[in-house]
Amino acid sequence: MSKQNIYDNDSFYDNFKSNRADSINFNDVIETPIITAMLPDMKGKKVLDIGCGMGQHAMQYVGLGAASVLGTDISEKMLAYARENNSAENITYRRLAFEELAEIEEKFDVITSSLAFDYAEDFGALMKQIYGMLNDGGKLVFSMSHPIDTSYDGTYDRYTRTETGERLYANLRNYAVEGVRRIKWVVDEYELYHITFATLINGLTGAGFIIEECEEAKVPEEISVKYPEKFGGTIHQPQFIFFRCRK
Ligand SMILES: C[S@@+](CC[C@H](N)C(=O)[O-])C[C@H]1O[C@@H](n2cnc3c(N)ncnc32)[C@H](O)[C@@H]1O
Repeated sequence: MSKQNIYDNDSFYDNFKSNRADSINFNDVIETPIITAMLPDMKGKKVLDIGCGMGQHAMQYVGLGAASVLGTDISEKMLAYARENNSAENITYRRLAFEELAEIEEKFDVITSSLAFDYAEDFGALMKQIYGMLNDGGKLVFSMSHPIDTSYDGTYDRYTRTETGERLYANLRNYAVEGVRRIKWVVDEYELYHITFATLINGLTGAGFIIEECEEAKVPEEISVKYPEKFGGTIHQPQFIFFRCRK
């Protein structure tokens, strides 16, 4: 089973860490406000955060009153940062890949994941695993790269631009071809998995989930105008997709 652990690569990790530390980053400006608005009441809840990375969301969920948060991730470096910078009495971090989640023998009220599921080789199998780890009525709230975004295979320009570089529209090619994408991004072979929107929905419903809410990335206009190179593309194509589902 292919399990790239790119966040343990020194240059990839350093790049991610400095982007995440910059206050104008995709996580804080786009991802966190949307997923936060979709969360159920976290007070007293037992939470699992999959692909927890540096632990910012684990800390956030404790701040929202979660009884406990278990954060899992494949990357030693990300977990080391989380343990050092985002620890609390009721947060536990464990090194586990998606494919190893069956080792957790407890159930949860809320399972979350931020921008990690596009690294899953078998999305449908992961959703079945997660469904089995939720208590009845439990919620799965997650974000991941949008199928329109993961379609990009590195063989064309993501945007058609004016002569002065302004994005005119987003380009899409090979959307229907699912599977691994290896593109140049910080490293030469950054690996993620592309699935279509239909496969995403069917992965959720096939596992048994009821979809309560779906959102797509959007950026406040003042931000996209102020930082056009970073956020200007969101008007043409959503980078992320978000779901809240119920068991
Ligand atoms: C974009 S980061 C997001 C981290 C964190 N959720 C956040 O919002 O900042 C993606 C995370 O997914 C983790 N990841 C990638 N592949 C994984 C796998 N197969 N199993 C578990 N975690 C994985 C990475 O190590 C990384 O920490």
